[in-house]
Amino acid sequence: MAERWTPDSWRSRPVRQMPAYEDKAKLADVEARLSGYPPLVFAGEARRLKAALARVAAGEAFLLQGGDCAESFAEFHPNKIRDTFRVLLQMAVILTFGGATPVVKVGRMAGQFAKPRSADTETIGDLELPSYRGDIINGFEFEPAARRPDPERMVQSYNQSAATLNLLRAFAQGGYADLHKVHQWTLGFVERSPAGERYREMADRLDETLSFMAACGITAETTPQIRETDFFTSHEALLLPYEQALTRIDSTTGDWYDVSAHMLWIGDRTRQLDGAHVEFLRGVKNPIGLKCGPSSNPDELIRLIDILNPQNEPGRLTLIARMGSDKVDQLLAPLIRRVKAEGRAVVWSSDPMHGNTVKSASGYKTRPFERILGEVRGFFAACRSEGVHAGGVHFELTGQDVTECTGGAQAITDHALSDRYHTACDPRLNASQSLELAFLVAEQLKEERRQLEKARREQAAE
Ligand code: PEP
Ligand code: CO
Repeated sequence: MAERWTPDSWRSRPVRQMPAYEDKAKLADVEARLSGYPPLVFAGEARRLKAALARVAAGEAFLLQGGDCAESFAEFHPNKIRDTFRVLLQMAVILTFGGATPVVKVGRMAGQFAKPRSADTETIGDLELPSYRGDIINGFEFEPAARRPDPERMVQSYNQSAATLNLLRAFAQGGYADLHKVHQWTLGFVERSPAGERYREMADRLDETLSFMAACGITAETTPQIRETDFFTSHEALLLPYEQALTRIDSTTGDWYDVSAHMLWIGDRTRQLDGAHVEFLRGVKNPIGLKCGPSSNPDELIRLIDILNPQNEPGRLTLIARMGSDKVDQLLAPLIRRVKAEGRAVVWSSDPMHGNTVKSASGYKTRPFERILGEVRGFFAACRSEGVHAGGVHFELTGQDVTECTGGAQAITDHALSDRYHTACDPRLNASQSLELAFLVAEQLKEERRQLEKARREQAAE
């Protein structure tokens, strides 16, 4: 029998990756203020996402999750929000149209501020300071005042999340996402790239399809799905004092929801069975994610699923594999096999970013595009060989024309990384690399469908 859960029961568990706040009174004051602020999302929306993810778990839809590695106060600008949103829209169209599958869209946006770090401190010369842990905790500049964790940053993160979400809702529901605008979503610099060209050809065909549908009487007026879309938000539930302050009882069901985002996930560094992060997320009813890195093993994974999804509710749990392109072939299939053998309903998703980070010759943290592609291919192959639906992908990307990941059709070289390397944290795909990946994923989805149909035909013939 599990012990009773409360929004603060995580506090009696070992907790990793937590900043050392010096001013406890200030921390308590911020937590108290945040507890009184309005929810950022409605519990009903989180339930809707869960229902959509249940369709993914059943093999009837695909999850596209993506956005910044870390949002930042300095980069807060409506154009940046719009550009990330439209790249996600473009990818979703490629997957829906090219892969012939409904796409559930979830942004790493409007709350993705806290970062786990491999070391607690950073040393430059003789100076040792706390590591940068994301703008919700401390500042990026390497100086003592900036690196000191400041609880007040939680309030600024909340406000920025609220404003970001407000704009995303307006874009998703207010006409920007209308499929008739499919050409207009292309960003200037993408138009000239090979992926941009391929996108234009697909958009032309989509236009023709829309004209045909209109002639049949199916228009944006008769069918709201043509002019608006559902767009959900997510982030890593890392900074637990913040998440606890935004955890509320939903008045219609009496259940607890973390209303800081629709979906929350547990990072690869904080998924200990007895740890605070697992304890916190087991008690909220949102759909949740769990990152599964190379150290995941089948027994432990089943025990985590027992804790996080004891009712085996489809859509509740998304397992996000991030093995690395060199390990995915070996490590992923055994996990999938075991979860399937135990009859657990989960969504399998692939994060091909976090297992493929390397240091370039020029000293930049980068991710070779070939390795990212390799992990996506390995993920689809493992799902196919185990007979489960490859349910989704999880990317770090931006609509900006950055040079942070090497390779891709634009052939960004090691040398070119310094041109526009803007991330405060991990290297992101730029808009054309993102489209290129979406086309690859669409092809893999088509292949999955072909294999399924072949299997069905063979079964029928027996
Ligand atoms: C992340 O998604 O930003 C992250 C830190 O991933 P992981 O926990 O898989 O390392
Ligand atoms: Co990251």
